[in-house]
Amino acid sequence: MTAHEGAAARRPDGPDHDAEPRRTGLEVLPTPDALMHAAAELWVETAASAIGASGRFVVALSGGATPQRLYRLLATHPYASGMDWSRVHAFWGDERCVPPDDPASNYRMAREALLARVPIPAETVHRIRGEDEPDAAAAAYERGLRETFATPDGPPRLSPGSRFDLVLLGMGEDGHTASLFPGTAALREPARWVRAVHPAEGSKARVTLTSAVINAGAEVAFLVSGRAKAATLRRVREGPFQPDALPAQIIAPRAGRLRWLVDADAAADLESHGKDR
Ligand code: 6PG
Repeated sequence: MTAHEGAAARRPDGPDHDAEPRRTGLEVLPTPDALMHAAAELWVETAASAIGASGRFVVALSGGATPQRLYRLLATHPYASGMDWSRVHAFWGDERCVPPDDPASNYRMAREALLARVPIPAETVHRIRGEDEPDAAAAAYERGLRETFATPDGPPRLSPGSRFDLVLLGMGEDGHTASLFPGTAALREPARWVRAVHPAEGSKARVTLTSAVINAGAEVAFLVSGRAKAATLRRVREGPFQPDALPAQIIAPRAGRLRWLVDADAAADLESHGKDR
């Protein structure tokens, strides 16, 4: 181990630290439907307490099929009518580098499923400009985040009003989360809050929050559904700490709460299922 690697291993929130929170916070719901309702309740409760503390609710939305179901549910009664949408600031955890009307756009998905159906002000919807050059889009998005959190430079702060109240995350079958993919440099980003990433030859570039800003969140919640995720979920939660191979393992809020909301199919391979609730 080099001196540099040794220093990284000692950093409490560094990428080489085995973040024990990955083994906690498990909530297994019997069906995908129950999972969506649990996530919607978490959203509404977190929003109410954030609005009480700082006058607004700042959330990072994820892409993918699982959150799409949540967003559709949040647009319906009683969830939509129980929210003060004028105080919601919507950001995204990641975006594909496509225009906002592209079917692959995470912004488009969230807009169609939720944001266009509730009275959220246009000026509190902070999308990632997927149509721009990826590094420029990442830098502009980071500037907007720093302005919202009144943190012009340096690492994210942990006080109410200067961090995400809720970060929603998914987990891919390869262990990625947001657009933090196995073996990519963005996993070890020490300073930037947002990075452009190039996941694989031939696939679109993306822009993603880094673990520095995700791990400053007050509530960080993975939503995981389906049997296809079961083996990976077991490796992420119960296997050896290999964050380069399993990026979801680097998610460990520094002064916040991590939750794994998973359905019974996704939990099927977990040894701790039934013991950690
Ligand atoms: C995206 C993501 C990504 C996603 C996972 C899980 O833009 O695709 O933000 O990280 O959350 O791939 O997606 P599913 O829930 O659809 O399986």
